[in-house]
Amino acid sequence: MKNFNIALIPGDGIGSEVVSEGVKILKEIEEMDAAISFSFAEFPWGCEYYLEHGKMMADDGIEQLQPFDAIYLGAVGYPGVPDHISLRELLLQIRKGFDQYVNLRPITLLNPSLTPLKSKTEKDVDFLVIRENSEGEYSGAGDWLYKGKPEEVVLQTGVFSRKGTERIIRYAYEEARKSNRTLTSVSKANALNYSMVFWDEVFEEVGKEYPDVETYSYLVDAASLYFVAQPERFEVVVTSNLFGDILTDIGAAITGGLGLATGANVNPERNYPSMFEPVHGSAPDIAGKGIANPIAAIWSVSQMMDFFGEEKWGEAILSTIKTILKETEQLTPDLGGQGSTKSVGDRFVELLKDNRIT
Ligand SMILES: NC(=O)c1ccc[n+]([C@@H]2O[C@H](COP(=O)([O-])OP(=O)(O)OC[C@H]3O[C@@H](n4cnc5c(N)ncnc54)[C@H](O)[C@@H]3O)[C@@H](O)[C@H]2O)c1
Repeated sequence: MKNFNIALIPGDGIGSEVVSEGVKILKEIEEMDAAISFSFAEFPWGCEYYLEHGKMMADDGIEQLQPFDAIYLGAVGYPGVPDHISLRELLLQIRKGFDQYVNLRPITLLNPSLTPLKSKTEKDVDFLVIRENSEGEYSGAGDWLYKGKPEEVVLQTGVFSRKGTERIIRYAYEEARKSNRTLTSVSKANALNYSMVFWDEVFEEVGKEYPDVETYSYLVDAASLYFVAQPERFEVVVTSNLFGDILTDIGAAITGGLGLATGANVNPERNYPSMFEPVHGSAPDIAGKGIANPIAAIWSVSQMMDFFGEEKWGEAILSTIKTILKETEQLTPDLGGQGSTKSVGDRFVELLKDNRIT
């Protein structure tokens, strides 16, 4: 019997609504698979906690999370707390504190009706974006000088260390080799004459160890265009923190929207827990209405199961997502249905049972 210890951080807005449905799926897996069990501990951190305690998480939050096998997070951020505080003091704190330097974001079209792209099918939109997740443009380095004065200056420094750049690029080459896919690096060396020239050099340098991997290199502006016009160009993509953040929202747009986009924050060495979360935020515009799409959060459970080495469950969840996506009426309004967050979760459990693999 394998027991996995999961820390739940539902967070703000629709975060808690979608995490409940993900937990429902985990409990169903436990029910169906006698070899697996989960224990959960929930942490109340987020914007409400901030308004009460003046901080986004407990002072020893990172120590409290350390013993877990994984963290399952909903979303963080809400009106009333500045976004740069909520993001930096919880989400980025965990990503950095646990050296989750790999962000894995699959851009996979699971049903052809979900893409706004004319004449593109599942075959054309199926790739993985590997985003650097620990430094780069999001390192938080910089300064704010002469605040409020006419000579005011702000500096936001992109930090690209050799270690940080090499390890994400190496991870991507390994992934491309393992899965026999091409690897595309996205950068911007024509304008960012230090960081991205360095990035391109490291991409080439590390590539010498992987002569079997076919590579491409695009500027981020061209890559944005290709994401929309020719997504079939991509198989595995590696890029920096900021570019990956933006590009994967384009990825979400061509595969059905934010309600379907997932991301895993991984510490490959497994020295620390990894974190699984939908890409979307707390969606204050629909929070509390019970209509948030839980499928992105459920896909995160699939990524978590893969990470635990329980790929059969990862695949079963993914194939159940494909099945439920055919039932348009049952889906949430963002996908044209009339379902609720809870009814989609309940239907998912029924379908997963039909898909049972044990
Ligand atoms: N990882 C995170 O925790 C994360 C990510 C992005 C934004 N945020 C935070 O969330 C807050 C809102 O940000 P935003 O509005 O830019 O982005 P958002 O992702 O919350 O919402 C963008 C749009 O997509 C819709 N949407 C998002 N998820 C959905 C779902 N599961 N089902 C149906 N519709 C969905 C929303 O209703 C909204 O119209 C901000 O405080 C922001 O900082 C957090």
